[in-house]
Amino acid sequence: MASNLKFTKELITFLGKAVIALLETLIFTFIPRPRKNVAGEIVLITGAGRGLGRLLALRFAHLGSVLVLWDVNKEGNEETCRMAREAGATRVYAYTCDCSQKEEIYRVAEQVKKEVGDVSILINNAGVVTGGDFLNCPDDLIEKSLDVNFKAHLWTYKCFLPAMIANDHGHLVCISSSAGLIGVNKLADYCASKFAAYGFAESVFIETIVQKLKGVKTTIVCPFFINTGMFEGCSTVRPFLLPILEPEYVVEKIVDAILKEKVYLYVPRFLYFAMVLKSVLPVKIALLLSDFMGVFNIMDGFVCKKKKH
Ligand SMILES: NC(=O)c1ccc[n+]([C@@H]2O[C@H](COP(=O)([O-])OP(=O)(O)OC[C@H]3O[C@@H](n4cnc5c(N)ncnc54)[C@H](O)[C@@H]3O)[C@@H](O)[C@H]2O)c1
Repeated sequence: MASNLKFTKELITFLGKAVIALLETLIFTFIPRPRKNVAGEIVLITGAGRGLGRLLALRFAHLGSVLVLWDVNKEGNEETCRMAREAGATRVYAYTCDCSQKEEIYRVAEQVKKEVGDVSILINNAGVVTGGDFLNCPDDLIEKSLDVNFKAHLWTYKCFLPAMIANDHGHLVCISSSAGLIGVNKLADYCASKFAAYGFAESVFIETIVQKLKGVKTTIVCPFFINTGMFEGCSTVRPFLLPILEPEYVVEKIVDAILKEKVYLYVPRFLYFAMVLKSVLPVKIALLLSDFMGVFNIMDGFVCKKKKH
């Protein structure tokens, strides 16, 4: 009897809170969600030497943030540093860091804490891709993909999350991929690393909810293919639903999601629908649809840069 009462009470509380959350979502569908101010925040971006990382640095420079730029490519990173200063950033710090090396992450993170301070926005963006049929992928490149695209996220969280918790203030940003939502032909190790990064970020997000760490936010980003050069040669046969995205557009969406403290960002929007289809369609129909969308052959024109990482 007592347990029935307890269940009814918990059910009513849940329904009440769910209705409030639904109303809040509805309201913010029509009026734009307020954006947070990131001026003075210490933003660390891994893989800042080119592509999305560089463009993110330039956007945060405009927004008045203190920038900490990490990349294994010293020249590219210093070029981003120079561009960020030109874009208005007054405090920019470039560090050469190979994110595939745990000890190097720990060492450079200590340097950052001493020289700059507590990182309040951590953007795990550095990424590599091998591409090709799984059995032809060399072991060292598979390990590198997992080290950079996934394990680096574990180590950077270990370095910077404690201060975020202590200050009850911080934002963890995971740049995953549509390949972290749906398996892709010729991208097995890359997909594994991106699914892992997504799962890790989502699990720590749940930890922050359970531990009532209201000041520590999470944003998980899953874009489709982007024209940065990482997937050079790849093309899409249904560009109206799954276009190859322009990096400037993706970065605008990522920064907007961070400022609005959105938890999940999939770009383009069709990916949200694709996830529903993946869950509800019979496998045979889902495979036919993937084939129709050209997803099986998307890597066909890929220009392999294996020797470069
Ligand atoms: N380009 C796409 O189509 C696409 C799509 C979805 C997700 N993503 C993800 O977005 C992120 C950025 O991709 P991008 O297109 O800008 O790639 P990019 O190749 O243009 O840039 C990646 C950056 O990461 C750096 N990097 C590589 N290995 C590193 C290491 N060991 N340590 C430190 N830095 C390292 C590179 O030097 C480079 O500056 C990646 O995580 C990628 O997986 C890309």
